Amino acid sequence: MQRVGILTGGGDCPGLNAVIRGAVMTAARHNISVTGIRNGWKGLIEADAVPLDAKAVADILPKGGTILGTSRTNPYKKPGDVEKAIEGYKKLKLDALIAVGGEDTLGVANKLLKEGKGLNIVGCPKTIDNDLSGTDSTFGFDTAVNIATEAVDRLHTTAESHHRIMVVEVMGRHAGWIALHAGLAASADYILIPEVPTDLDKMCAILKKRRQEGKEYGIIVAAEGAALAGGQTATKDVQLDSFGHVMLGGIGEALAKEIEKRTGFETRSVVLGHLQRGGAPTTFDRIAGMRFGAKAMDLIIAGKFGYMSSLQGTEVNEVPIEVAVGKLKTVDPKLYELAKTFFG
Ligand code: F6P
Repeated sequence: MQRVGILTGGGDCPGLNAVIRGAVMTAARHNISVTGIRNGWKGLIEADAVPLDAKAVADILPKGGTILGTSRTNPYKKPGDVEKAIEGYKKLKLDALIAVGGEDTLGVANKLLKEGKGLNIVGCPKTIDNDLSGTDSTFGFDTAVNIATEAVDRLHTTAESHHRIMVVEVMGRHAGWIALHAGLAASADYILIPEVPTDLDKMCAILKKRRQEGKEYGIIVAAEGAALAGGQTATKDVQLDSFGHVMLGGIGEALAKEIEKRTGFETRSVVLGHLQRGGAPTTFDRIAGMRFGAKAMDLIIAGKFGYMSSLQGTEVNEVPIEVAVGKLKTVDPKLYELAKTFFG
């Protein structure tokens, strides 16, 4: 093993630089050189890369985003791109590749592995949404939840001063991990997640009951992918990205209107959006990121291709990438049941 490539794909995520640092510093101990591929799969297609050494990763831990850049490029979308990616791998003289990403980026890795394209790939589990299987949690989730919790905490005081309902829209395309954790941690009066059908009657009844009890404000936390009445999600744009996703957004505003209409209570909505992905990672995500990156390099050294670093309890082990991308990890229904205890 002489040269290992590393790429970061999909939405950026706090802790990506920690993964890069973990991989590069582990490689340095084994005299392996690391090539940073710019902008995810796009960089492999274009053979666009930069050398990464200890100096290049020296001050990157507190930095959000990814020093390598990212993209949502899917080589399986455009004819010829898979072949170009294989060419890029050869051109960059890679012996192996670490793909750091969520279900989309790792889905591509899994396909390349399954089709026997000759690429030696291992994965690292990234996403603020925490919806990747095969790992107890992904890096980035902890930072995003902390940002969302702080935001909801702050909204309590302004909601209370104005006797309003505040609806907070958080990220979570297919899974409501951020909404549930932040909503529970910051005492939301109702939490909407994609996994549980929305019950507007129930939600409004809870808000009315609170008022009757003298609590003249309320906080609702909604995941962007939660369904509105009729099972529809709110979308900003009908155009699909290269992985076939629509741009979600708008559930907060739609809910606010519905609440005002049904209860007569003044309601405002806030969309946290990309704030949840930006800025410095938490200590947890820095450590998890470095451990995932170091483990990925260890897997490569051991020749265990097709595996992904995975957090299992307090240990970092490995799982086949196909396990991670086979099924989405949705929220634990027991945790949602617990959250209901605190609604209102
Ligand atoms: O990383 C996943 C995610 O955070 C989803 O929750 C969200 O729908 C999506 O990214 C939005 O990403 P972007 O606007 O950067 O394409």
